Amino acid sequence: MVYDLLIRNTNVLDGSGAPPFLADVAIQGERICAIGRMPYATATTTIEADERYLAPGFIDVHTHDDTNVIRTPEMLPKLTQGVTTVVVGNCGISASPVTLTADVPDPMNLLGSAEDFRYPSFADYASAVDIARPSINVAALVGHTSLRSQVMDSFDRPASNDEIAAMEVLLRQALDEGALGLSSGLAYRNAIHAPTSEMAPLVAAVGYSGGVYTTHLRDEFAGLLDAMDEAFATARAGQVPLVISHLKCAGAGNWGGAGKALSKLEMAAQHQHAHCDCYPYTAGSSTLDLGQVTDEIEITITWSKPHPEQARRPLKEIAAEWEVSLLEAARRLQPAGAVYHNMSEADMQQVLAHPLSMVGSDGLPNDPHPHPRLWGAFPRVLAHYSRDLNLIPLAEAVRKMTSLSAANFGLTDRGIVQVGAYADLTLFDLAVLEDTANYETPIAAAKGIELVVVNGQLAYYQGSITDQRSGRMLRRTERISQVIPSNQESIS
Ligand code: ZN
Ligand code: CU
Repeated sequence: MVYDLLIRNTNVLDGSGAPPFLADVAIQGERICAIGRMPYATATTTIEADERYLAPGFIDVHTHDDTNVIRTPEMLPKLTQGVTTVVVGNCGISASPVTLTADVPDPMNLLGSAEDFRYPSFADYASAVDIARPSINVAALVGHTSLRSQVMDSFDRPASNDEIAAMEVLLRQALDEGALGLSSGLAYRNAIHAPTSEMAPLVAAVGYSGGVYTTHLRDEFAGLLDAMDEAFATARAGQVPLVISHLKCAGAGNWGGAGKALSKLEMAAQHQHAHCDCYPYTAGSSTLDLGQVTDEIEITITWSKPHPEQARRPLKEIAAEWEVSLLEAARRLQPAGAVYHNMSEADMQQVLAHPLSMVGSDGLPNDPHPHPRLWGAFPRVLAHYSRDLNLIPLAEAVRKMTSLSAANFGLTDRGIVQVGAYADLTLFDLAVLEDTANYETPIAAAKGIELVVVNGQLAYYQGSITDQRSGRMLRRTERISQVIPSNQESIS
């Protein structure tokens, strides 16, 4: 038989965490059809891998690529890292089910401007993604703040019972149409007034339909542990698997707290499905938040609506030049974006190495001077933290960006190199693999990603995107809690 694609003599990291093995991998149509030694096999396209590593395409479980997968379907920041699927709609903000005409509430403005929010239903969004034909697959959460924007006229208060009921109707419909679940961003000013009692019925609706709940916690600073408790209780009551977004100990006063936070996560995971995602950097990034303005850490402005000329400068310098306080300078710069150097390296490494964490970039694709995680998160984990620092074995690092991610987000037959699975694959040269994006030059493609296959088609090869654009919308069809393999329970 003549295969469509044959990758010869490759070191297979199958995504399960098992050690690599040498094999040939054959693809027919959109799926993997054979793995083993096939010296006599022929194929329309044959790639000689020379023992380089072949992994499942990476799954970026934490993104804000909602409108970019439609507006910039090449998706180069992700494709060049070997990412083959993005989960959009995190941190409470999603492009659907939303229409906006006037101002875009913070931080929904991270996703685009008012005209980019034009998907009254999840189905409208999903078909727009399919029509755009992105180079990578897309799966989507519904954001709680986005739901609020459709039913509330002001955000500085809890939703009324009627408003909660209206949000629930929107959410249930989206879940029926293939949304993965619900996300929240309870630390943001437009969601922080939502009490647990506002979240409970929404999370219960997610539990009813078998989705997942992801949350940017109400507090990532001194109140981290309490905020984790709130998330565990909400998810437990709603009977949903929980993913804590970008778990971190933010703020200089809270450094050294990762051990406590992780043991809390482990304890919860003994009784409920609980995981977290994280990115391999010690700085966070979002819209400029007055509550996070402090002189204890370095804050860099990445964009500012009223003062675009101040982009890329430290807030301290701007304030000194204007002869005002940091807070006053921040106020004048808003709306704006910022990079906050607010974590310790040791805490971040502890979270990254933990078996319950997945890798998610949290990249901000619409920032003109983005945090380097947008272009570098995945190669940085493999090259810097696994190969160079030996923080995690390579196979385990790959598991955190493939099979664990697929299981937690219900992406059936993905995240694994296995006969019958979708051929979403990344071939990389570990010797030259490098994230080249940094804080000074954040827009830079990684080195060493040699080939990316999406749904059986060559998507990226030898440094160039092909014209295939074979990604698609991944609509949820199963109960996620049932897809999670039972052995995940025992990992702690
Ligand atoms: Zn977030
Ligand atoms: Cu985020």
